Amino acid sequence: MTLNEQVRQFWEAEICGTNPDLIGQAPMQSHEWYEAIEKHRYEVEPFIHAVAQFTRYHGKKVLEVGVGAGTDHLQWARAGAECYGVDLTDAAVEATRQRLALYGFTSQLQRTDAEHLPFEDATFDMVYSWGVIHHSERPEAIVAEIHRILKPGGEFVGMMYQRPALASWDLWLKHGLLRGKPLRSLRDVIWHHMESIGTKAYTVNELRTMFGAFREFKGEPILTPYDTRHVPGWLKKFIPDSWGFFIALRVTK
Ligand SMILES: C[S@@+](CC[C@H](N)C(=O)[O-])C[C@H]1O[C@@H](n2cnc3c(N)ncnc32)[C@H](O)[C@@H]1O
Repeated sequence: MTLNEQVRQFWEAEICGTNPDLIGQAPMQSHEWYEAIEKHRYEVEPFIHAVAQFTRYHGKKVLEVGVGAGTDHLQWARAGAECYGVDLTDAAVEATRQRLALYGFTSQLQRTDAEHLPFEDATFDMVYSWGVIHHSERPEAIVAEIHRILKPGGEFVGMMYQRPALASWDLWLKHGLLRGKPLRSLRDVIWHHMESIGTKAYTVNELRTMFGAFREFKGEPILTPYDTRHVPGWLKKFIPDSWGFFIALRVTK
């Protein structure tokens, strides 16, 4: 089985951010279910709005790669963007389609592997992808596709995982040190234990190289609740963003 087929099966089994332990027991695809997903998402990742800046893209042609449950996709629609979305799974595409319909919006959604995007060159004003590209077998292929389908001057905005981060060391502690395998690398524990199999995480400089075909690159680490879950409350404000698991990306073609 290819890696992306394993990735697909993992995310088909449960759409990202919809675990009932996190969002409660509302019936799937009901209005309450979508509201609970949205409430939880922006409580734990409130910085998404500052990174995405949804309202700046009113009237723009926006593609979201890896829509998941469609929470951010709804924000693009609310902001008045002309919305397109893809995901590797039927579950995500259907949940997002249903969600937009429930709120009176539409988007051109399709299931596809983003390593091959079914769009003409220079089609989009912006491409957005939050926490997706590092799950794919060949992230570089997705980045090359994003570059191809963006118009000149178009932007990519998104998030990818940072390897030298507290959340990575937390995983290493659990699956390396405490299992008597202190020599396990951060790469290895992230590959095997961070969500779907094959997950990768990078340094800002590695991402700068991956996005080397673009004209401008900005990558800024963000400290997340996944980094600080074992840190006492009073200590959190002293931890710098540079130790965070997320790298917010704003890149221009
Ligand atoms: C961690 S979830 C993030 C979903 C959403 N962006 C969010 O923030 O909630 C990862 C998503 O990426 C999708 N995905 C992984 N590899 C992909 C690929 N090669 N092409 C398209 N989607 C992919 C998965 O199906 C899953 O829905």
